[in-house]
Amino acid sequence: MITAERVDQVRETVAEWRREGLSVGLVPTMGALHEGHASLVRKAAEECDRVIASVFVNPTQFGRNEDLDSYPRDFERDCEILEREGCSMVFHPEVAEMYPEGFSTYVTPEGGMTGCLCGRSRPGHFRGVCTVVSKLFNITTPDRAYFGEKDAQQLAVIKRMVRDLNIPVTVCGCPTVREADGLAKSSRNKYLSPEERRDAAVLYEALQAGRRVIEAGGGHAKSADVLRAVRETLERLPSVRIDYVEVVDGESLSPVDMCGPGTLVAAAVFIGETRLIDNFTV
Ligand code: PAF
Repeated sequence: MITAERVDQVRETVAEWRREGLSVGLVPTMGALHEGHASLVRKAAEECDRVIASVFVNPTQFGRNEDLDSYPRDFERDCEILEREGCSMVFHPEVAEMYPEGFSTYVTPEGGMTGCLCGRSRPGHFRGVCTVVSKLFNITTPDRAYFGEKDAQQLAVIKRMVRDLNIPVTVCGCPTVREADGLAKSSRNKYLSPEERRDAAVLYEALQAGRRVIEAGGGHAKSADVLRAVRETLERLPSVRIDYVEVVDGESLSPVDMCGPGTLVAAAVFIGETRLIDNFTV
C-alpha cells in the first residue's frame, strides 16, 4: 500500500493507474478505523481496480466546542486495517496540505437539507464536510466513492452536492455495521465508559421500537406514532439526553407526516458527553 501525504503524489499515482485503464474507488475517512470503515474498503476493492482511502481529521467540520483535539488518532493501526482490506493507497495529508494559508473557498449546502437532524445542532458541519469531500473528489478523481449509511444526512447531502455540481463520481451508500447488541460501530464509541457503553444500546433498541410501529402498519405509520415509540424507549434511561428524533424523506430530508418506503427515521443522543447517531430507512 502506498502512503501519500501530498496532493501531487496522489495525482501522479492516479494518472499512472488511469494510463493502465484501471478504475478507482475512494473511501474518505477521519481514521480511527473500525469494522464499518473496513466494510467500505472491502466493497470498494470488490467493485474497483484500485482503492484510495483518505485518513484526515478535517478541522472545518468540527464546531468550536466539539472534539477536534481529542478525536481518536491511530494511523499505524489504520494502515494495518486498510492494507488487510485491499486498499492500494492511503492519503494522509497534514492540515496545511488541505487548507494552505489563504484558503478561502468553501462548498456550502443551502436550503433545508442541513437545517434539520445533525445540521441543527452542528451549524457549519456540512459546509466542512462538503468542502473536504469535494476537495478529495478533485484530488483523487474516483469513479466511485463509498460512505456509510450510519451518517445518513451526510450521505444525502453529498449525493445532492454531486448532482448539483455535476461531479463525475458515483456515490455508494453502505450498510451500518453493528456490535452484537445493535450499537452502530463508530469511532466515538471509544469515549464511552463501561456503563455508558451498556446504556448506548438503547439507541438501536429505540429505533427498533419505531420500526415495529411501521411494521405493524404494514409498512406505513403516522410519523407522530413512530416518534413517540422512539422517544419513549430513549426516555426510560436517565443517562440518555435526546438531541433529536426526526422522521424525514430519505432523499430531500424534508419532514413527513406519514412514514412509508424511503422514509428516514434518525436519532442523535448524548450519553454522558458522547454524542451518538443512528437511523433506519423504511
Ligand atoms: O464521515 C466521515 O468520517 C467524514 O465526515 C468524512 C466523510 C471523511 C469527511 O471528513
